Amino acid sequence: MSDTETKKPIALEAYEKLAEAFSEIAPAKAENAYIEQPAMRKAVGDVRGKKIFEAGCGPGILAEYLVHEGAKVVGFDVSPKMIDLAKKRVPDNATFFVADMAKPLPIEQDGQFDMVVASLSIDYIEDWSVPLSEFYRLLKPKGKFVFTIQHPIGSWNWYKPTSAFGVQYVEASWKGFTEEPVIMPDYYRSFEEVINPLIKAGFKILKVEDLKPIDALRTLDPYKFGKYSKLATFMCIIVEKE
Ligand SMILES: C[S@@+](CC[C@H](N)C(=O)[O-])C[C@H]1O[C@@H](n2cnc3c(N)ncnc32)[C@H](O)[C@@H]1O
Repeated sequence: MSDTETKKPIALEAYEKLAEAFSEIAPAKAENAYIEQPAMRKAVGDVRGKKIFEAGCGPGILAEYLVHEGAKVVGFDVSPKMIDLAKKRVPDNATFFVADMAKPLPIEQDGQFDMVVASLSIDYIEDWSVPLSEFYRLLKPKGKFVFTIQHPIGSWNWYKPTSAFGVQYVEASWKGFTEEPVIMPDYYRSFEEVINPLIKAGFKILKVEDLKPIDALRTLDPYKFGKYSKLATFMCIIVEKE
Protein backbone atom coordinates (compact mmCIF):
# COMPACT_ATOMS: atom_id res chain seq x y z
CA MET A 1 0.00 0.00 0.00
CA SER A 2 1.25 3.50 -0.80
CA ASP A 3 1.89 6.17 1.85
CA THR A 4 -1.24 8.08 0.72
CA GLU A 5 -3.43 5.00 1.27
CA THR A 6 -2.14 4.18 4.77
CA LYS A 7 -1.72 7.64 6.32
CA LYS A 8 -4.21 8.55 9.08
CA PRO A 9 -6.03 11.91 8.62
CA ILE A 10 -4.23 14.22 11.08
CA ALA A 11 -7.28 16.23 12.19
CA LEU A 12 -9.91 13.48 12.43
CA GLU A 13 -9.68 12.93 16.18
CA ALA A 14 -9.74 16.67 16.95
CA TYR A 15 -12.78 17.36 14.74
CA GLU A 16 -14.68 14.41 16.20
CA LYS A 17 -14.23 16.09 19.60
CA LEU A 18 -15.12 19.54 18.29
CA ALA A 19 -17.90 18.80 15.78
CA GLU A 20 -20.94 19.82 17.84
CA ALA A 21 -19.33 22.92 19.36
CA PHE A 22 -17.95 23.98 15.95
CA SER A 23 -21.41 23.59 14.41
CA GLU A 24 -22.94 25.87 17.07
CA ILE A 25 -20.17 28.46 17.33
CA ALA A 26 -18.79 28.88 13.76
CA PRO A 27 -21.92 30.54 12.29
CA ALA A 28 -21.26 33.58 14.55
CA LYS A 29 -17.50 33.35 15.29
CA ALA A 30 -15.45 36.39 14.22
CA GLU A 31 -12.93 34.48 12.08
CA ASN A 32 -15.62 32.45 10.28
CA ALA A 33 -18.72 34.62 10.15
CA TYR A 34 -16.99 37.97 9.57
CA ILE A 35 -13.98 36.96 7.45
CA GLU A 36 -14.12 33.53 5.83
CA GLN A 37 -17.82 32.94 5.22
CA PRO A 38 -18.56 36.32 3.58
CA ALA A 39 -15.51 35.89 1.34
CA MET A 40 -16.57 32.42 0.17
CA ARG A 41 -20.15 33.56 -0.43
CA LYS A 42 -18.87 36.39 -2.61
CA ALA A 43 -16.34 34.18 -4.41
CA VAL A 44 -18.86 31.50 -5.44
CA GLY A 45 -21.09 34.15 -7.07
CA ASP A 46 -24.50 33.22 -8.46
CA VAL A 47 -24.95 29.49 -7.79
CA ARG A 48 -28.56 29.11 -8.94
CA GLY A 49 -29.02 25.77 -10.74
CA LYS A 50 -25.40 24.74 -10.17
CA LYS A 51 -24.17 21.35 -9.03
CA ILE A 52 -21.50 21.91 -6.39
CA PHE A 53 -19.08 19.50 -4.73
CA GLU A 54 -17.91 20.48 -1.24
CA ALA A 55 -14.71 19.06 0.26
CA GLY A 56 -14.37 19.12 4.05
CA CYS A 57 -17.94 20.39 4.42
CA GLY A 58 -17.92 20.23 8.24
CA PRO A 59 -21.41 20.70 9.71
CA GLY A 60 -22.84 22.04 6.43
CA ILE A 61 -22.69 25.80 7.03
CA LEU A 62 -21.62 26.67 3.47
CA ALA A 63 -23.79 23.90 1.99
CA GLU A 64 -26.84 25.44 3.72
CA TYR A 65 -26.08 28.79 2.08
CA LEU A 66 -25.48 27.23 -1.36
CA VAL A 67 -28.73 25.25 -1.24
CA HIS A 68 -30.62 28.34 -0.04
CA GLU A 69 -29.23 30.17 -3.09
CA GLY A 70 -30.51 27.49 -5.46
CA ALA A 71 -27.60 25.04 -5.86
CA LYS A 72 -27.51 21.28 -5.38
CA VAL A 73 -24.64 20.12 -3.16
CA VAL A 74 -22.70 16.90 -2.70
CA GLY A 75 -20.42 17.23 0.32
CA PHE A 76 -17.97 15.05 2.19
CA ASP A 77 -15.89 15.24 5.34
CA VAL A 78 -13.50 12.91 7.14
CA SER A 79 -15.44 13.33 10.42
CA PRO A 80 -18.57 11.14 10.72
CA LYS A 81 -19.92 13.52 13.41
CA MET A 82 -19.58 16.48 11.05
CA ILE A 83 -21.44 14.53 8.35
CA ASP A 84 -24.32 13.73 10.75
CA LEU A 85 -24.57 17.45 11.59
CA ALA A 86 -24.45 18.46 7.90
CA LYS A 87 -27.27 16.02 7.08
CA LYS A 88 -29.39 17.56 9.86
CA ARG A 89 -28.58 21.15 8.84
CA VAL A 90 -29.23 20.62 5.12
CA PRO A 91 -31.86 17.89 4.73
CA ASP A 92 -32.88 18.78 1.16
CA ASN A 93 -31.01 19.24 -2.13
CA ALA A 94 -27.77 18.00 -0.59
CA THR A 95 -26.12 14.64 0.00
CA PHE A 96 -23.18 14.04 2.29
CA PHE A 97 -20.73 11.19 2.82
CA VAL A 98 -17.63 10.38 4.88
CA ALA A 99 -14.31 10.35 2.99
CA ASP A 100 -10.69 11.39 3.35
CA MET A 101 -9.62 14.19 1.00
CA ALA A 102 -6.08 12.79 0.92
CA LYS A 103 -7.33 9.71 -0.95
CA PRO A 104 -9.04 9.09 -4.30
CA LEU A 105 -12.77 9.75 -3.92
CA PRO A 106 -15.53 7.17 -4.35
CA ILE A 107 -17.23 9.07 -7.19
CA GLU A 108 -17.04 7.51 -10.63
CA GLN A 109 -18.56 10.02 -13.03
CA ASP A 110 -15.97 12.54 -14.19
CA GLY A 111 -16.82 16.11 -15.20
CA GLN A 112 -20.15 16.32 -13.37
CA PHE A 113 -19.74 19.41 -11.15
CA ASP A 114 -19.95 23.10 -12.05
CA MET A 115 -17.89 24.02 -9.01
CA VAL A 116 -15.83 22.49 -6.21
CA VAL A 117 -15.63 24.41 -2.93
CA ALA A 118 -13.50 23.87 0.18
CA SER A 119 -13.68 26.17 3.20
CA LEU A 120 -10.63 25.95 5.46
CA SER A 121 -10.29 22.20 4.93
CA ILE A 122 -7.56 21.46 2.37
CA ASP A 123 -5.01 22.91 4.86
CA TYR A 124 -5.16 19.57 6.69
CA ILE A 125 -3.78 17.67 3.69
CA GLU A 126 -0.01 17.42 3.36
CA ASP A 127 0.16 16.40 -0.31
CA TRP A 128 -2.34 18.36 -2.38
CA SER A 129 -1.69 16.39 -5.59
CA VAL A 130 -4.38 13.78 -4.83
CA PRO A 131 -7.29 16.12 -3.93
CA LEU A 132 -6.42 18.57 -6.70
CA SER A 133 -6.36 15.88 -9.37
CA GLU A 134 -9.65 14.50 -8.00
CA PHE A 135 -11.31 17.96 -8.04
CA TYR A 136 -9.99 18.55 -11.57
CA ARG A 137 -11.40 15.19 -12.69
CA LEU A 138 -14.83 15.87 -11.19
CA LEU A 139 -15.19 19.39 -12.60
CA LYS A 140 -16.81 20.21 -15.92
CA PRO A 141 -14.55 22.03 -18.41
CA LYS A 142 -14.25 25.66 -17.24
CA GLY A 143 -15.56 24.58 -13.81
CA LYS A 144 -14.14 26.48 -10.86
CA PHE A 145 -12.45 25.36 -7.66
CA VAL A 146 -13.08 28.02 -5.01
CA PHE A 147 -11.40 27.61 -1.65
CA THR A 148 -10.08 29.27 1.49
CA ILE A 149 -6.99 28.36 3.45
CA GLN A 150 -4.94 29.85 6.23
CA HIS A 151 -2.84 32.69 4.89
CA PRO A 152 0.88 31.73 4.98
CA ILE A 153 1.73 34.91 6.90
CA GLY A 154 -1.08 34.54 9.45
CA SER A 155 -0.33 30.83 9.74
CA TRP A 156 3.39 31.43 10.29
CA ASN A 157 2.56 34.02 12.95
CA TRP A 158 0.11 31.66 14.71
CA TYR A 159 2.02 28.38 14.59
CA LYS A 160 5.61 29.67 14.62
CA PRO A 161 6.88 26.68 12.58
CA THR A 162 10.59 25.94 12.67
CA SER A 163 10.89 27.08 9.05
CA ALA A 164 8.79 29.39 6.86
CA PHE A 165 9.63 27.25 3.81
CA GLY A 166 7.82 24.19 2.52
CA VAL A 167 5.03 22.28 4.26
CA GLN A 168 5.47 21.88 8.01
CA TYR A 169 3.45 19.79 10.47
CA VAL A 170 2.22 22.06 13.26
CA GLU A 171 -0.16 21.95 16.22
CA ALA A 172 -2.25 24.49 18.13
CA SER A 173 -4.42 24.31 21.21
CA TRP A 174 -8.02 25.27 20.32
CA LYS A 175 -9.67 26.94 23.28
CA GLY A 176 -13.23 28.18 23.62
CA PHE A 177 -15.03 25.37 21.78
CA THR A 178 -15.07 22.67 24.44
CA GLU A 179 -14.42 22.70 28.21
CA GLU A 180 -10.94 21.23 27.73
CA PRO A 181 -8.73 22.67 24.97
CA VAL A 182 -8.34 20.41 21.93
CA ILE A 183 -4.96 19.91 20.24
CA MET A 184 -5.45 20.58 16.53
CA PRO A 185 -2.81 19.23 14.14
CA ASP A 186 -2.41 21.14 10.88
CA TYR A 187 0.06 22.00 8.13
CA TYR A 188 1.79 25.32 7.64
CA ARG A 189 2.28 25.86 3.90
CA SER A 190 4.44 28.49 2.24
CA PHE A 191 3.05 30.54 -0.66
CA GLU A 192 4.80 28.48 -3.37
CA GLU A 193 3.37 25.31 -1.80
CA VAL A 194 -0.10 26.78 -2.32
CA ILE A 195 0.30 28.04 -5.88
CA ASN A 196 2.58 25.48 -7.58
CA PRO A 197 0.40 22.40 -6.87
CA LEU A 198 -2.57 24.24 -8.45
CA ILE A 199 -0.55 24.97 -11.59
CA LYS A 200 0.78 21.40 -11.68
CA ALA A 201 -2.77 20.00 -11.44
CA GLY A 202 -3.69 21.96 -14.58
CA PHE A 203 -5.70 24.78 -13.02
CA LYS A 204 -5.64 28.35 -14.29
CA ILE A 205 -5.44 30.85 -11.42
CA LEU A 206 -8.22 33.45 -11.69
CA LYS A 207 -8.03 35.26 -8.36
CA VAL A 208 -6.04 35.29 -5.10
CA GLU A 209 -7.38 37.40 -2.25
CA ASP A 210 -5.90 38.18 1.18
CA LEU A 211 -9.01 38.28 3.37
CA LYS A 212 -9.94 41.16 5.65
CA PRO A 213 -12.88 41.27 8.07
CA ILE A 214 -16.16 42.77 6.88
CA ASP A 215 -17.12 46.11 8.40
CA ALA A 216 -19.75 44.61 10.74
CA LEU A 217 -16.95 43.23 12.95
CA ARG A 218 -15.67 46.76 13.68
CA THR A 219 -18.34 47.49 16.31
CA LEU A 220 -18.92 43.89 17.33
CA ASP A 221 -15.29 43.11 18.19
CA PRO A 222 -12.98 46.11 17.68
CA TYR A 223 -9.92 44.16 18.89
CA LYS A 224 -10.29 41.35 16.35
CA PHE A 225 -11.32 43.82 13.64
CA GLY A 226 -8.08 45.76 14.19
CA LYS A 227 -5.94 42.64 14.45
CA TYR A 228 -7.28 40.94 11.30
CA SER A 229 -7.31 44.19 9.32
CA LYS A 230 -3.52 44.32 9.73
CA LEU A 231 -2.60 40.64 9.51
CA ALA A 232 -4.28 38.39 6.94
CA THR A 233 -5.44 35.21 8.62
CA PHE A 234 -7.03 33.55 5.56
CA MET A 235 -6.85 33.73 1.80
CA CYS A 236 -9.39 32.86 -0.86
CA ILE A 237 -8.33 31.41 -4.21
CA ILE A 238 -10.39 30.87 -7.36
CA VAL A 239 -9.00 28.60 -10.08
CA GLU A 240 -10.51 27.17 -13.25
CA LYS A 241 -10.26 23.85 -15.05
CA GLU A 242 -8.71 24.63 -18.43
C1 LIG B 1 -12.12 24.38 9.97
S1 LIG B 1 -13.23 23.06 9.64
C2 LIG B 1 -14.20 23.79 8.32
C3 LIG B 1 -15.54 23.13 8.15
C4 LIG B 1 -16.39 23.76 7.06
N1 LIG B 1 -15.76 23.71 5.76
C5 LIG B 1 -16.70 25.20 7.45
O1 LIG B 1 -16.03 26.11 6.96
O2 LIG B 1 -17.62 25.41 8.25
C6 LIG B 1 -12.23 21.90 8.74
C7 LIG B 1 -12.99 20.68 8.26
O3 LIG B 1 -12.11 19.88 7.45
C8 LIG B 1 -12.37 18.52 7.73
N2 LIG B 1 -11.21 17.72 7.36
C9 LIG B 1 -9.99 17.68 7.97
N3 LIG B 1 -9.20 16.77 7.39
C10 LIG B 1 -9.93 16.21 6.39
C11 LIG B 1 -9.66 15.19 5.43
N4 LIG B 1 -8.49 14.55 5.41
N5 LIG B 1 -10.63 14.86 4.54
C12 LIG B 1 -11.84 15.50 4.58
N6 LIG B 1 -12.15 16.47 5.47
C13 LIG B 1 -11.21 16.81 6.37
C14 LIG B 1 -12.65 18.52 9.23
O4 LIG B 1 -13.27 17.33 9.66
C15 LIG B 1 -13.49 19.79 9.37
O5 LIG B 1 -14.85 19.51 9.20
